[in-house]
Amino acid sequence: MKKKTQRIASTLSFLIFLIVLTNCVPLMLNGDEYDEKTSPQSDGVIKTPKKTVHQEPLSTMATSYQSPTHQEKAYSDIQILRGINLGNALEAPNPGDWGVTIKQEYFQIIREAGFNAVRIPVRFSEHTGMEPTYLINEPFFELVDNVLNWGLGHGLAVILDFHHFSELMEDPIGEMDKFLAIWAQISERYQNFPANLYFELLNEPHHNLNAELWNDLIDKSIAVIRKRNPTRKILVGGVNFSDIDSLYELRLPEDDNLIATFHYYEPFTFTHQGASWELGSSTWLGTLWQGTRSEKREITLAFERAVNWSISNKVPVIIGEFGVINQADPTSRAKWIKFIVQEAERHNLGWLYWVFCSDFGIYDCQNKLWYEGVLDCLFPE
Ligand code: GLC
Repeated sequence: MKKKTQRIASTLSFLIFLIVLTNCVPLMLNGDEYDEKTSPQSDGVIKTPKKTVHQEPLSTMATSYQSPTHQEKAYSDIQILRGINLGNALEAPNPGDWGVTIKQEYFQIIREAGFNAVRIPVRFSEHTGMEPTYLINEPFFELVDNVLNWGLGHGLAVILDFHHFSELMEDPIGEMDKFLAIWAQISERYQNFPANLYFELLNEPHHNLNAELWNDLIDKSIAVIRKRNPTRKILVGGVNFSDIDSLYELRLPEDDNLIATFHYYEPFTFTHQGASWELGSSTWLGTLWQGTRSEKREITLAFERAVNWSISNKVPVIIGEFGVINQADPTSRAKWIKFIVQEAERHNLGWLYWVFCSDFGIYDCQNKLWYEGVLDCLFPE
C-alpha cells in the first residue's frame, strides 16, 4: 500500500516536472526573459534604416541557434571586453574639430567606472604625405602614441581603429596602396607594444568597398601587419557599415588572432533620432524604445545570428559600437542600453559603447560627471 502511494506520488511529480520543463525550455532556448506586462510596440515609427535589417527567415535562425558555451570557448584566450569608444576626437578631420580632445585623466575615469577596454578611432588617412610613401605626419603619430600609452598604462585593452577613410569607400582600388602603406607604418611603429593593443583594420566599410573588394583588402592588409606583428589581435568588421549580416560575407584568412566585430544601432530611427549627419533624422525625434516583447526579440535574434556565425567560423565576435544619441527619451535610452548589454553578456559577446562624450555620450566632459543612470545600465549589480 505504501509502495503504491509512493509510485503514484513519484508519477505525479514526474508529470509536474514534465509540465514545468515543456513550459521553460522554449524560453531558455530563445533566451526570452520577456516581461509579459510590457505594453505593445508603439506604432508610427518611420522605418528608413541606413543599416539593413536581416533577411534570413526567423524560423531557421531560431532553430539553428546553439549554446553560447561555444562562443565562450572561442574566447578562451582573450578577456571579455567591456569597453567604450573615445570617438569624435582623433577621427575628426583635425583633432579637436568635433569638440573632443582626449585627456590622460579620461582613462582613469573609464577604468574606475568598470570598463576594461577603449577603442580609439583615428583618421590616419588625413595625416599623410603624398604617394608613394604616404608618410604619416610625425606630430600626429606622437599624439596617437600618447593616447595609446595612456590607455595601456591604465591597464586597459586598447583598440586602435582606422576610422573615416572615406576616399577608400569611394575608390577602393585607387586608394588601396595608401591603405596598405598606412598599415605598414602603424604596424612597424607599434610592433613592440604589449599584446593588449589590438588593431582594427577599418571602421564600417561601405559604399563602393563591396564584400569582394573588402575581402581582398583584408587579406592584403593582414599580410602587411603580420610581417611585424605575427600574433597581435586584429579586429575586422564586414561591409555595409559592419552590420551583423555582413559577418556572413566575410572571408577571413586562416589566423588564430582575428576577432570579428559588428556595430549595432537598431532600430536606427530610435538610436539616430536628430543626428545632424543623417538626412531627415529630425522627423525621428520622439521615437521611443519601450522594451516590448517584439523589440527585445529583434535584438536577441540578431545577436544569435552573430553567435552562430562565430561558432561556424570559430572566430570570436564583439560588438565594437552600439549606442543611442542623447536627444532620445532618457527612459527609452536607458532601457535599450541595458537590454543590449544584458543580451551581449548572455551571449558572451564583448561590447564597446559608442561613445564616451558628446552626441551619443554618457560622460559630461565639461562638468566631469557620468550622466545619471547610464553607467548602471552598462554595469548592473
Ligand atoms: C560610426 C561613424 C561615427 C558615428 C557613429 C554613430 O562609427 O563612423 O562617426 O558617430 O557610427 O553613427
